[in-house]
Amino acid sequence: MTGAGNGKAQPAPPCTLVIFGATGDLTRRLLVPALRNLKRDGLLSDNLALIGLASRDIGDDGFRKHLSDGMAQFKAGAGGADVGWFTERAYYLNGRFEDPGVFQSLARKLKEAEATHGTAGNVLFYLATPPSEFAVIVDQLGKAGLTRETDGQWRRVIIEKPFGHDLASAVALNKEILKTLDEGQIYRIDHYLGKETVQNIMVFRFANGFVEPLWNRDHIDNIRITVAETVSVEQRGRFYDRTGALRDMVPNHLFQLLTLIAMEPPSGFTADALRSEKSKVLDAVHRLSPEAARRNVVRGQYGDGVVGGKTIVPYRQAPDVPAQSTTETYVAMKLAIDNWRWAGVPFYLRTGKALASRRSYITVQFKQAPLALFRDTPVERLPPNDLTLHIQPDEGVTLRFGVKMPGPAVRIDGVDLKFNYQDAFETTPSTGYETLVYDCMTGDASLFQRADSIEAGWRVVQPVLDAWKAEGATNLPIYQAGSSGPEEANQLLRRDGRRWRAISADGLGDD
Ligand code: BG6
Repeated sequence: MTGAGNGKAQPAPPCTLVIFGATGDLTRRLLVPALRNLKRDGLLSDNLALIGLASRDIGDDGFRKHLSDGMAQFKAGAGGADVGWFTERAYYLNGRFEDPGVFQSLARKLKEAEATHGTAGNVLFYLATPPSEFAVIVDQLGKAGLTRETDGQWRRVIIEKPFGHDLASAVALNKEILKTLDEGQIYRIDHYLGKETVQNIMVFRFANGFVEPLWNRDHIDNIRITVAETVSVEQRGRFYDRTGALRDMVPNHLFQLLTLIAMEPPSGFTADALRSEKSKVLDAVHRLSPEAARRNVVRGQYGDGVVGGKTIVPYRQAPDVPAQSTTETYVAMKLAIDNWRWAGVPFYLRTGKALASRRSYITVQFKQAPLALFRDTPVERLPPNDLTLHIQPDEGVTLRFGVKMPGPAVRIDGVDLKFNYQDAFETTPSTGYETLVYDCMTGDASLFQRADSIEAGWRVVQPVLDAWKAEGATNLPIYQAGSSGPEEANQLLRRDGRRWRAISADGLGDD
């Protein structure tokens, strides 16, 4: 399957990793710890060089300090890689990305790195910058001749999310960067695909013979996907208020979960086979009319409340958020997939900030067995047969089924058969970026997004963006911080005779 599944025994090939936005939060919080974990696991080449680029004038020493601070602060893994190993191969350039001179200097630095560290001329450009910089950086790289792949050297570009702000901007960005790069050089990242449990959705479905025969409209009643967060907007107001929960989480992270759950078995675990199947799922999602967008999608914004013992101020009072903001911090939706496998099976998705607990999971609810056999017993209702894939935290799988309660009368209760990753395997903490950086270095694009899936995802959410724009501030319920989200999201399921599990501070509530 993907690089992740191949054992990863081999270190990645020599290369220079160029980080645009090197002094930013993402680099320090995720990328640097991921590099350290890769080094710890022997997965980086000794012929690696690092070049950081950003606007601040901090020099090589400042960048080296930034690296060592990041490594010290975020101890994601056991044992430490030698910080000195990184700093002795790290360099820094400052300037504005609009300035062609910066790219001339970068070209020189790359040559020097190749001579000093034996990087073989391979380069991975990592765009950890605000999205407004993506197109200009790629354009400048092209103009400086830095994206040309000659003599077996590779040049690849990792692009962070968000990829576009809506359908039109995503299409435009793809068009722009494809003027300079081949699709095969572009690695659009979604860090959910770096999570072990997300990758396990595929293994669970396709490596277990009993699963596939049941995985369709004949046996499944509905599928519910939850990505609940406790974090509030904190210091990200400027970014978040222009983005909102829908853009921030749905066409990317939630749709990754949706496509892995719903796709057809690919013909192999090659990047193209896998990504084609995922795109087909999004293409088959029923287009929402303006009326359906209003009826089947619920938004909400958090008010005040308490999360994990901490008092949260209402979203509208967070730094850099306008006092009248209509940005949603919560979204729930019902989608239909119009294909032979899924016609008639509703998919419910929800995600929100400042909720009672941090918990991501997918529940597959199977159809109820006929009650006929229990006609003359006190049994009125059978417990639902749920299969829950727990993504984070407490990664694992639970299967709920009915058993006879002890005693002379036939009474049935639902019990859980549980598998916890931690109990079965020794796991080392990781950021999720390890797999993705390593896969890019080894040229495996399976866990990255292709242009068509990005656009297909935006095509699904665009009618919702349009409907909300037309609605303005109407239908924007305020939910209490530290709750399960707005009551309207419960109604969305209740009107279909179904329920979400409550999101509570001490775990998952009952169905
Ligand atoms: C990011 C979003 O992409 O994903 C954040 O921008 C969100 O708003 C984060 O908090 C969630 O990631 P994780 O790995 O904590 O579930």
